[in-house]
Amino acid sequence: MNSTLANQIVKRHGTPLYAYDLAEVSQRAAELATALPAGASVCYSFKANPLPALARRVRESGGRAEITSEGELAAAQAAGFAGEQMLFGGPGKTRTEIQLALEAGVRQFSAESFRDLSVLSEMCVKAQVTAEVLLRVNPSEAPDARLAMTGIESQFGFEESLLLDPTASEQLTLPRLSVIGIHIYFGTQVAGVDALVTNTRRALASAERVQQALGAEFKIVNVGGGFPWPYGNDHARPNLDGLREKLDEVWLQSPFATQGVQLWFEAGRYLSASSGWLIAQVLEVKRLPSKTFVILDTGIHHLGGMAGLGRVPRAGVTILNLSRDVSAEPLMIADVVGPLCTPLDSLARGLKIPAVESGDLIGIPNVGAYGLTASLLAFLSHPPPIEVTHEKGRECEAWQLRHGHAQISA
Ligand SMILES: Cc1ncc(COP(=O)(O)O)c(C=O)c1O
Repeated sequence: MNSTLANQIVKRHGTPLYAYDLAEVSQRAAELATALPAGASVCYSFKANPLPALARRVRESGGRAEITSEGELAAAQAAGFAGEQMLFGGPGKTRTEIQLALEAGVRQFSAESFRDLSVLSEMCVKAQVTAEVLLRVNPSEAPDARLAMTGIESQFGFEESLLLDPTASEQLTLPRLSVIGIHIYFGTQVAGVDALVTNTRRALASAERVQQALGAEFKIVNVGGGFPWPYGNDHARPNLDGLREKLDEVWLQSPFATQGVQLWFEAGRYLSASSGWLIAQVLEVKRLPSKTFVILDTGIHHLGGMAGLGRVPRAGVTILNLSRDVSAEPLMIADVVGPLCTPLDSLARGLKIPAVESGDLIGIPNVGAYGLTASLLAFLSHPPPIEVTHEKGRECEAWQLRHGHAQISA
């Protein structure tokens, strides 16, 4: 993040704020397109960052939308995605969200269970439309991912063995539904090319077994992704060299390649993470005998809230001083904390950071994915930070999530 631009944006909107460089989104989308087999589609996972201005750039770069809620549906519409460009997934879908999705023209759903299918069928019958279904499969083989979502007992998808059962095909035949493929998502932050290739090979093999058992002709095989990117720090970006060649090989060995089946991938963090910086102000530097606390006007209500709850491993954040050049000053060792009334409101403990003083602007890189959207926004009722998109050194749009209670009955 260029500090002149950061200071200009802050002058206009105050702190804390998220700033997203749209050129980064275009760049990552172009890289992914060249790293995947020709003709493959990429679905953007709105959970990584549903900001319409950012998702619009993904759409303009050729992406589809992978959505899982009413809010993500609204964000995808605001980003200009048509219903036919959206895949609606997620466990425990409600009748209301299915109805809203159908009304918005969504016709492709990822189904996670027989219950999910029967509710979807019921809503399609009611709306007198037919929907296409990707069966989300939990393959029997464990994945190579840091946060595994398959290969273990999980709430996600059909156990593969259920779909291989001879009775499955009959159970999947429901009014107004047409099963057209499978969806597998192994997990996030998959470590590198070899793991991505292994997971894809396993996904295709699972899809092949399921297709055969069901006697179906699939149109789409969605093999997920989990493409990695650093989170909240400036660690080296992943090297995807050789991915294209290896995935081409795996794809061409699969019978789907010659059956005219579409190959889909999903990506959230890879497309949005690098675009985003969290810019905040140092409110106070509190020097105690054995510890220094840097108190910011941002914290786990804006970043890494799930880490604050101890639910995901805490990655070391990188803090840059965007107010002045402190390269000649010694580094500080500090606990970097936020303004919430809980000791859990901490972005880093005992971290070496560049010198900062009260009033300085700091920036945290690589938080365009799972930044604001994965945080404890409502906790302690601070206003949501403004989110600004920019490109080529110029601000584009500014957005802000709504907050506060709206009374709905007296
Ligand atoms: C089904 C599914 N697809 C895609 C994603 C996006 O993952 P990532 O942001 O790692 O690309 C997730 C993340 O949890 C997911 O659950």
